[in-house]
Amino acid sequence: MSAFPKGFVWGAASSAYQIEGAASEDGKGVSVWDTLCRRPGTVREGQTGIVACDHYHRFREDVALMKAIGLHAYRFSIAWSRVLPEGIGKPNPKGLAFYDQLVNDLLEAGIQPFVTLFHWDYPQALFNLGGWLNPSSPDWFAEYAGLMAHTLGDRVKFWMTHNEPQIFVGMGQPDDVTAPEIKLKWKELLLIGHNALLGHGKAVQALRAGCPSAVQIGMAPVGNVKIPASHSPLDIEAARQSMFAANRYDFWNNSWFSDPVFLKQYPEDGMMFYGNDMPAIGPEDFETIGQPLDFYGVNIYTGDVVRAGAEGIPEPVAHPVGHGITTIQWSIASEALYWGPRFLYERYGKPIYIMENGIANMDWLHLDGKVHDPQRIDFMKRYLSALCRATADGTDIRGYFHWSVMDNFEWAEGYRQRFGLIYVDYATQQRVLKDSALWYHDVIVTNGEILGQNST
Ligand code: FCB
Repeated sequence: MSAFPKGFVWGAASSAYQIEGAASEDGKGVSVWDTLCRRPGTVREGQTGIVACDHYHRFREDVALMKAIGLHAYRFSIAWSRVLPEGIGKPNPKGLAFYDQLVNDLLEAGIQPFVTLFHWDYPQALFNLGGWLNPSSPDWFAEYAGLMAHTLGDRVKFWMTHNEPQIFVGMGQPDDVTAPEIKLKWKELLLIGHNALLGHGKAVQALRAGCPSAVQIGMAPVGNVKIPASHSPLDIEAARQSMFAANRYDFWNNSWFSDPVFLKQYPEDGMMFYGNDMPAIGPEDFETIGQPLDFYGVNIYTGDVVRAGAEGIPEPVAHPVGHGITTIQWSIASEALYWGPRFLYERYGKPIYIMENGIANMDWLHLDGKVHDPQRIDFMKRYLSALCRATADGTDIRGYFHWSVMDNFEWAEGYRQRFGLIYVDYATQQRVLKDSALWYHDVIVTNGEILGQNST
């Protein structure tokens, strides 16, 4: 028997820069990722998103494939500089028309659109004005959100503001390769984070004001999941504490961006740790940032194991030697889809959507014309079974979005990492449904019941 609740949303996800291509067509403005890709030595083998999956021209075919998989929902992002070439000001009618048509086609195919406003491709024109360091940046984001509410709000019922603030705010750290490739001091990073949070809150207000009827709004932070080494209460508590500790020079935690949004405060350990580097916080800031949200969206790929050390202090437990990894070198840790949603639901009390989960794998077109990817099926089986147990144990999980609907441009890794359910031959732009896509179809139509069966 499947324990997935009735009405569970089965979906798949993508983001604009990673699939659209048409990087400078039909009046699109430049984004920081266009700029980064032009700079030699940044992206693997000098690859770019100029063409990517050419989804901008092939979205009809792609929607038909999504329908063939049986997706209930599709998460995609808007390229901010496609609809507002300068980031603010004059909209680009052709850019708006593209998303308008995409949404219509999805709805006609019976697929619910879930829209992310910002998945990292920041408009270069605004970056040149200081980007998120500029005190006006929250208002710029709200202006963009208002435009999208006005354009799509009559049909799009699910919205997310930021994808993974931990990554785009943390990108200024010395070791990161992600646009715009600048290196900043912690004081500046924390200010960028604060302005991005204010932008989130103002965008939520703009969406609520601009959409003609009620919509559901959330965010999609990355889930940095800690898995207890055993089911002993001490190990569980150690993992819980470790999930939300914000006392390090990185943003690789769950509380720094989620506590302000859901609890209207920064975590205390982080404020103590960052001390004088903390941004000035205005009297109304947490009211703005903490606008009521409808769900907690989260991207989860992997997890670290933690146990209670001396006096219960959390300590990491390494995965065993030879533990499974994906081609992007992330550990396979399916229990992350049990503990991640559970801890996040406990702390923030909102229904959870898994907004991304998936595996980079060495897929190729086999001689029989198919793409056999048993690793992906096994990965999904493990992760979805853990998710299913979480729902059975009382975590309110409303949906699962596989990353990704199709192979795509994996940022600084270029096209080497294939995450898709749909295989893309980048030379011909031919699409092929991988075995996993056909299997996922059966998961969807049985609402997960086939997970209990052994055959793939
Ligand atoms: C996430 C990103 C997404 C994709 C996957 C593999 O961090 O949100 O765009 O790159 O990782």
